[in-house]
Amino acid sequence: MYPDPQSQSAALYERALKVLPGGNSRHTVFFPPYPIYAVRAKGARIWDADGVERLDFIANYSALIHGHNHPEIVAAIQRQAEQLTAISLPTREEIALAEIITSRIPAVEQVRFCNSGTEAVMMALRAARAYTGRPKIAKIEGAYHGSSETASVSVAPSPEAWGHPEAPASVAPPGTGPGTAADTVVLPMNQVEACRKLIRQHGPELAGVLIDPLVKNLGYKPATREFVSMLREETRKVGALLIFDEVYSLRLGFHGGQGALGVAPDLTALGKIIGGGLPVGAVGGRRDIMTTLFDPRKGSPKLGHGGTFNANPLTMAAGRVSMELLDEASFERLSALGERLRQGLREALKIAKVPGTVGGATSMVCLFHSDAPIETYRDVVSTMRGNVQAQARAGQFFRHMLNNGVLIGAPGFFVLSTPLTEADIDDVLEKALAGLRAMS
Ligand SMILES: Cc1ncc(COP(=O)(O)O)c(C=O)c1O
Repeated sequence: MYPDPQSQSAALYERALKVLPGGNSRHTVFFPPYPIYAVRAKGARIWDADGVERLDFIANYSALIHGHNHPEIVAAIQRQAEQLTAISLPTREEIALAEIITSRIPAVEQVRFCNSGTEAVMMALRAARAYTGRPKIAKIEGAYHGSSETASVSVAPSPEAWGHPEAPASVAPPGTGPGTAADTVVLPMNQVEACRKLIRQHGPELAGVLIDPLVKNLGYKPATREFVSMLREETRKVGALLIFDEVYSLRLGFHGGQGALGVAPDLTALGKIIGGGLPVGAVGGRRDIMTTLFDPRKGSPKLGHGGTFNANPLTMAAGRVSMELLDEASFERLSALGERLRQGLREALKIAKVPGTVGGATSMVCLFHSDAPIETYRDVVSTMRGNVQAQARAGQFFRHMLNNGVLIGAPGFFVLSTPLTEADIDDVLEKALAGLRAMS
């Protein structure tokens, strides 16, 4: 049972505390009093340092769409490791993955690889500034886009600082440069008229508008068609670039979130599933923008973009196989499993008579332990983060699932992977129902 001070994980955490701040290199994998330590994994199953088996519903925060150690991806990595792991020359593998991405993602005509979603978003924002010669970026309040400076603005602002709901304050976290807050315009999610006004107001200084088509921190809140159409229209009018962060939302379908929404952004940041489980990021977009900024043939490119491990052959080989495996049928199957889980959780909430709201799309499912509807970041704060009872229920549910062989993301995120079966989903639903009943 977790927590257990005598466990191997507890001992490993004690050891980690001596050499890593808070015992940690990635705050998103910490949970109190100590995280469980992973040892091995196969498909959708993981084993911890104490030999406990669990179903993995985090899938490395969505990157592992084929679960762990898919045999074809492992074989591709092994083959590539025997040939070449990293080199200061381009390789065939980079072209092959770029071909797959550009053939699937409508608005990505050309692409450049880097090593994380954080880098991809950072380069997309720099690209927008370099292309337009303007300083400001607009982003959604509460949306997470990695840890670069502009991307970190107003990810989790507190009510005292967040300002007017229709013109949110720009709240820069510690460690960002002096111009960061001033050069970031914060938009409320899906609020069409308020955002139209803000884009027009900042128009002449606006380099780009950054949007995640499915905001995880808002319980996988999808952007509405009306909202993204407005963003497309207004960015064109003011001469700013529309930037989609599809690091997560590529899971929305074979053609990504932009395919699902029917909108063509100017630039797209990618990551997670395109790397077959290895570290990856990519920035892509319109050919004219990409060549104007990055083409090195006429001397130094306008926007320098090096990176010792960019387009590294191991990631490229793993990514190619992973994307090839991910055909339209896999997306449909994953969506059906996601729907089974969403429906099942809704029924479980009714049976257990406990508050809760189930959201998400395709292979991403979110259970918030509150009945209040969530539209914007401020709703998440009032119904979840600032609600002591909802927080307590979320913590209790997380622990119940952990102690019943299911690892989910706190406060109630489930990310699906292709090795999961209907029987796995039904098993999880049974455990979820027992957990919810224990709270009623
Ligand atoms: C929407 C979005 N953008 C960017 C990032 C950052 O990606 P990475 O963790 O690879 O740096 C994430 C990570 O979860 C994300 O969800």
